[in-house]
Formats: sequence, C-alpha cells, structure tokens
Amino acid sequence: MMRYILTMLGMISLPSALAAQTSPADEDAAWSIAIHGGAGTIKRENITPEKDAEIRAALAKALETGSKILRDGGSAMDAITATIMVMEDNPNFNAGKGAVFTWDKTNELDSSIMDGSDRSAGAAAGINGTKNPILLARAVKDKSPHVMLSGAGANQFSREQGLEQVSPDYYATSRRLEQIERVLAKEVSAKDIDYKFGTVGAVAMDSNGNMAAGTSTGGMTGKRWGRIGDSPIIGAGTYADDRACAVSATGSGEYFIRVGVAHEICTRIRMRWPVAIEEAQKTVPKDADGNYTYAIHASEFMLSDEDVQKIADSVIGEMGDLGGTGGIILATPWGQTIYSFNTPGMYRGRADSEGEKSVGIYGDE
Ligand code: GLY
Repeated sequence: MMRYILTMLGMISLPSALAAQTSPADEDAAWSIAIHGGAGTIKRENITPEKDAEIRAALAKALETGSKILRDGGSAMDAITATIMVMEDNPNFNAGKGAVFTWDKTNELDSSIMDGSDRSAGAAAGINGTKNPILLARAVKDKSPHVMLSGAGANQFSREQGLEQVSPDYYATSRRLEQIERVLAKEVSAKDIDYKFGTVGAVAMDSNGNMAAGTSTGGMTGKRWGRIGDSPIIGAGTYADDRACAVSATGSGEYFIRVGVAHEICTRIRMRWPVAIEEAQKTVPKDADGNYTYAIHASEFMLSDEDVQKIADSVIGEMGDLGGTGGIILATPWGQTIYSFNTPGMYRGRADSEGEKSVGIYGDE
C-alpha cells in the first residue's frame, strides 16, 4: 500500500529495502514474480477455447510454483528455477519437452540463469540429454568456474553433475514433428512456422530484495549450423542486477542479441534512477532561505511503473525497428512486474505479495 501512496506523490518508496530488514518468515515482506511462455502471432481466432484454457492453466501452475516458494521466504533463484522447470515439463511450450526441431530433426536446447545479488550467471547452449535445461544452466553457475558451456561438453558436464538424463526422443511431440516436416517439405518457411512460440522464462524479486532471471528454449524451428539464439546469452535473453531489474526475453533471438535487450533495459533503469531522484528533489518545497525542506534519499526512492514501462517499451521498440519481434518480462527491485512486447500476444503471468495474480495470452488483455 505504501508503495502506491508514494507512487501517487511521484516519490515512491522501498519495498525491497524494507524487505531486506525483514526475516524470510515475515509475511509482510515484499516479493514478486513474472513469467512468460513465448510471444508471437498469438490471436484468439487461432486458438481453440480448450487450448486457451490449457495454456492459462499451465501458466497459472508455473506461476503458483514460484509464488509459493517466494511466499514461504524462498530465494528468487529457487523460485525461477522451479517455475521454469514446470514449463519445461509442459509440451505446450518450446522448452524441454515440446522443444522445436532443428533442420536435422534433432533438438538443441538453450538455457540461462542469473542471480542479481552478485551477477553470477550460468548458461548452456545447443544441448540435449538433460531433462531440464534450466538445471544445467544453474549447475554451470553454481558448480563450474564458467558462465556458458555448449554442445557435447555441456552434455558431459550435465551427466557429471548427476542431472536427470533423458533419451534424445524425450523432447519430441507430434506438433513439433509436423512443424519441421512442413518446413523440410518447403510447404512453409521456418519463418511462417511461428518459431517464437514457446520460449519460457521467469523473473523474480524475493523477500530479501534479491532478484533473479532465467530463460529456457528449444530455439527456432529448422535452425541449423549450430545456430544459437538470445536465450542462453547473458545480456540478450536474460539479465539480473539487484540495482535495476531482472529481465527474460522471448522472440526472434538474432535481434535480441544485436540490441542486447535484457542488459540494455537494466542499464537504462539503473541510469534513469538518479536522474529521477534529482527531478523529484526539484519538486520539494523550499524554506525562506531557499533550501529544500527535506532531501530525498536514494534509499527512499523508486522509479514509477510508467518510467519502467517506458524504458522497456523503448528498448523493445528499438529491437522492433531493426526488424525483430517478441517481448520481455521484467521485475524491479521495488516490487514491480512489467511486460513489453511488439507481437499480437505473449503467454505471460505475474504475481506478488500485494495480491496480484494473473495470467494473459493476447495483447488486448
Ligand atoms: N528467443 C529464442 C531464440 O531465438 O532462440
């Protein structure tokens, strides 16, 4: 509530800073989470009511998995890991089970994860064999001295870490097989198949004010030559920094890489913050001597929802100007969750300690 009152005053306050002083068991401690399950030409006329309900249920299940961990005082890292695993296990999404096929009718999966508290990160590119690729990204972060592993070496690392392994045909679904068959038969191009459907991601702020972001995908239908998209690239598809935000992206990876979307958004938020404090300070009344009656301290200030939305929209706009499509989910250290996408729809959801709990599919909801 305090956040909203202060938002109206244009001088918003500090859920995460307050939260940092609370114990994880404090039920008033602020937390937030947002998820996506892909963006693309997602329109009502293309989705049956049954599929619509199935997707919403899948998003709600993933969201509740992360929310419960955060509500119980768990970390943002644990919340997003568990949330992404739920979506990887659901064949509706292009990640884990249900991943799209490459030109050679194999599956090559990408994933990444980042902890905003120390900016440690892990990623896996072009992998298979691991049931939940997000766990491999996390193992790279926690158990190796590296940030990104790829291909056969990453698969070997996964086995050495004891992560659950599956046979190569585990990821296959009839829908994805039909898509690659149509591409290979040249009935459609890989671009006509909406390859942006289904990358999954989650961002969160926990009750200690720590942030995390993660992304997992099968990439692009018909990809070849070891193509890697934005999802495993820290700064493009995933970024988290407790000073600014946590971002996970979905869409045409090449464009997200060129703009460095996730890092660009976080940097702009970090840079905008001191400027916004200065602007707010100028609105404070002065005394008879011309001195401000009080000084706005950084720890008592946060960017407004509108400021954050504007930054996210401008970076997505720049990515779109280059020809890319897709979107992002974003969490701030002040408890906000934001979506930005330039596609007709994005599978998405968000929840927080103030009672927000919603999922969405189409752009107009
Ligand atoms: N955004 C997923 C990909 O381009 O691979």
